[in-house]
Amino acid sequence: MFVYSALVLWNFLIEEFSTKVLAVFVAVLLSVRFLQMVREASALPPGPWGLPILGSLPFLKGDLHLHFRDLTHKYGSLISTRLGSQLIVVLSDYKMIRDAFRKEEFTGRPTTEFTALLDGYGVINTAGKLWKDQRRFLHDGLRHFGMSYIGSRKTQMEGRIMREVEEFLSVLTSKKDNPIDLNPILAVSLSNVICDILMSVRFSHNDERFKRFMFLIDEGFKLFSSLEASFFIPILKYMPGQRETRGKIAKNREEMGQFLQETIEEHRKSFDSSHLRDLLDTYLYEIQKANEEGTGHHLFEGKDHDRQMQQIMGDLFSAGMETIKSSLQWAVLFMLHHPEVMKAVQEEMDQVVGRRRLPKLEDLPYLPVTESTMLEVLRISSIVPMGTTHAPTRDLKLNGFYLPRHAQIVPLLHSVHMDPNLWNEPENRSTSCRSGSAGGCV
Ligand code: HEM
Repeated sequence: MFVYSALVLWNFLIEEFSTKVLAVFVAVLLSVRFLQMVREASALPPGPWGLPILGSLPFLKGDLHLHFRDLTHKYGSLISTRLGSQLIVVLSDYKMIRDAFRKEEFTGRPTTEFTALLDGYGVINTAGKLWKDQRRFLHDGLRHFGMSYIGSRKTQMEGRIMREVEEFLSVLTSKKDNPIDLNPILAVSLSNVICDILMSVRFSHNDERFKRFMFLIDEGFKLFSSLEASFFIPILKYMPGQRETRGKIAKNREEMGQFLQETIEEHRKSFDSSHLRDLLDTYLYEIQKANEEGTGHHLFEGKDHDRQMQQIMGDLFSAGMETIKSSLQWAVLFMLHHPEVMKAVQEEMDQVVGRRRLPKLEDLPYLPVTESTMLEVLRISSIVPMGTTHAPTRDLKLNGFYLPRHAQIVPLLHSVHMDPNLWNEPENRSTSCRSGSAGGCV
């Protein structure tokens, strides 16, 4: 009996002791983590702490780039803030952005719910060796197929653009004085230039397949933005409706993938390594070479070749088409609001080019008003106000502040475009002009 009681007491003491030890252990761990977090937070660039879990999300009103701009006015040109679970570091000074983004350690891309959907394919949302190789390859390829200021390829590119401009003008003429939506007309013309370089494809202005492709891109943007909250607070992805939206995105992406895959298959059938027609052919050539050398698996860092080609085509198409389309639409809008600038550009064009032919690249040095007007449109419209988000490839320091590897680095291009130290009255569209540039600013 005594032995039994002693054993029970011993077990009780051990259990009590282990529970206490465990409790102390957990408390110490939590305190260390808390201290680490406080130390990390105090070493970060200045900025609002926000609320637990939500960060600054509840305080966002209107455009995010304007919210960041306001924070930089309050805290300085380098700030940090939290949006949900994401640590955001914003760089708003031209020189700081330029110096930082020249460094290899700023070339990472953040891992988010958004990038998870893309699965590391393409070029825009990749990092490391795959990104570097793809970027170099694309630079060479695009230059070879005409994206260059010099050489015979430039003339080829010019001819390609002029054909599309002529077609564009004839569509406009056919509409006579009726109101028109420039968006779909520009979309076809610009896509034809880009798709010709990418995959020798051209669309007519009534092509149903093209309309469907554009619809899928537009819908994709909308679906992605409806998931935005869950990119910052991941638990929200379990909310009703989110699974369906993700399913729809996956289905649309599959349909777009199929469209591109058909083009890849057609190219495979007619491929001739002695006559590379476009960027897609250069990819097929690269794959063929790597397979012959037995390095096919390493070529895209073990990624599926066809999916990589699909995503590259998709990346270049969306990055190139949407940006130029928006810029041209802004140009038209600004011209309507500033007829005196439109008149100045028209007069210069009439004088230098005349009305019997289209302008050429070689006319550009003689068109300072036109050129500075185009540059001003790009500055004022600031169509990519927050650039694309980068991430440090390792924990590092910038201007004495700590930037952890998981931070999202936002280059606030809008602030650069509106920096009064760089531009005269940058917000005033009728007077602003880059110092030293010729007249004609919008
Ligand atoms: C007005 C026109 C354009 C603007 C304002 C623009 C703006 C940008 C910006 C801000 C970035 C992010 C760079 C970074 O990672 O920090 C970018 C990347 C990129 N742009 Fe453009 N872009 C334009 C036209 C084009 C065109 C015509 C193409 C191709 C046909 C293109 C293809 C790309 C690609 C592939 C990337 C990703 C580069 C990388 O990750 O290394 N862009 N662009």
